[in-house]
Amino acid sequence: MMKRIGVLTSGGDAPGMNACIRSVVRTAKFHGIEVIGIKRGYQGLIEGDLLPLTTDHVANIIQYGGTFLKSARSEAFRTKEGRAKAFEVIQEFGIDGLVCIGGNGTYTGAGIFYDEYKIPSVGVPGTIDNDLYGTDFTIGFDTAVNTALDAIDRIRDTADAHNRLFFIEVMGRDSGFIALQSGIAGGAEGILLPEVMSDFDELLQHFNQSDKRAKAFSIVIVAEGEESGHAIDIAKRFEAANPNHDIRVSVLGHIQRGGKPSANDRILASFLGNAAVEELIKGKANICVGMVNQALFTCSFKEAIDNKKTINFDLWNLSKVLSH
Ligand code: F6P
Repeated sequence: MMKRIGVLTSGGDAPGMNACIRSVVRTAKFHGIEVIGIKRGYQGLIEGDLLPLTTDHVANIIQYGGTFLKSARSEAFRTKEGRAKAFEVIQEFGIDGLVCIGGNGTYTGAGIFYDEYKIPSVGVPGTIDNDLYGTDFTIGFDTAVNTALDAIDRIRDTADAHNRLFFIEVMGRDSGFIALQSGIAGGAEGILLPEVMSDFDELLQHFNQSDKRAKAFSIVIVAEGEESGHAIDIAKRFEAANPNHDIRVSVLGHIQRGGKPSANDRILASFLGNAAVEELIKGKANICVGMVNQALFTCSFKEAIDNKKTINFDLWNLSKVLSH
């Protein structure tokens, strides 16, 4: 029987996390369940940094990026002692279940905590990287792609005005989802992703194809997790091999993590926050919720962690055709 649930955001913040917390609180209240907000993710849980949440706390937050509960990557929660402390706090505050919003690290922590203490937890995918199995899209991804795209469009103006070749680095720790989507939408001439090997030589060849290519402006998107290095290293190698180009590098960085969540992210966050509470009420535990083909999908934390979500290779092939 769920009487009181805790909600936390952990790992990198993502636009839409506030909309998700709002949905958790409103769904819980709808069912007469109390909600405790846990500040700074698992770190706040260990330290007992908790805040009982009313619907007032989540009024007028749906439109904001970041997370009003704040987030952290907790080293202490990786230790047995840290988790033991977190369990004490859970007991002290009478928390019957947890909603953990975050990425891979968040799911890993929730899974281990469940194995050790059997506290029912449901994970909600919140990360701009979109690198989580069990959902077509993660909360924050759509906004991040659009933020990156807006920056790419602006850089394109300068690239065009000066006939420059721009290497633009986008986020994605080990994955190229942001790079692929923003690259296609931004009309990039090259996209370098960690999922696809040895593209650098192909890219060189591509730009050596004709003089026309050497003179026209171009945009190449590099995922930060790209195997051959960061955009700055790749640009240096490119320049050494091909000095005819006027090259610049732009690293978009954390600008992609902030800002107003898109409509899609707010809707996804609302849907998944609601689903997480409903699953806890049904007695489910040790699972995460996602949206696959417009419908709710659930799987265990283990399944979500063990399976790697792949990029859409049809989109990858399309990017090749369009930049030919
Ligand atoms: O996981 C989201 C993400 O923004 C990655 O794309 C990036 O590699 C990482 O977080 C950056 O983390 P931090 O904000 O801790 O530097």
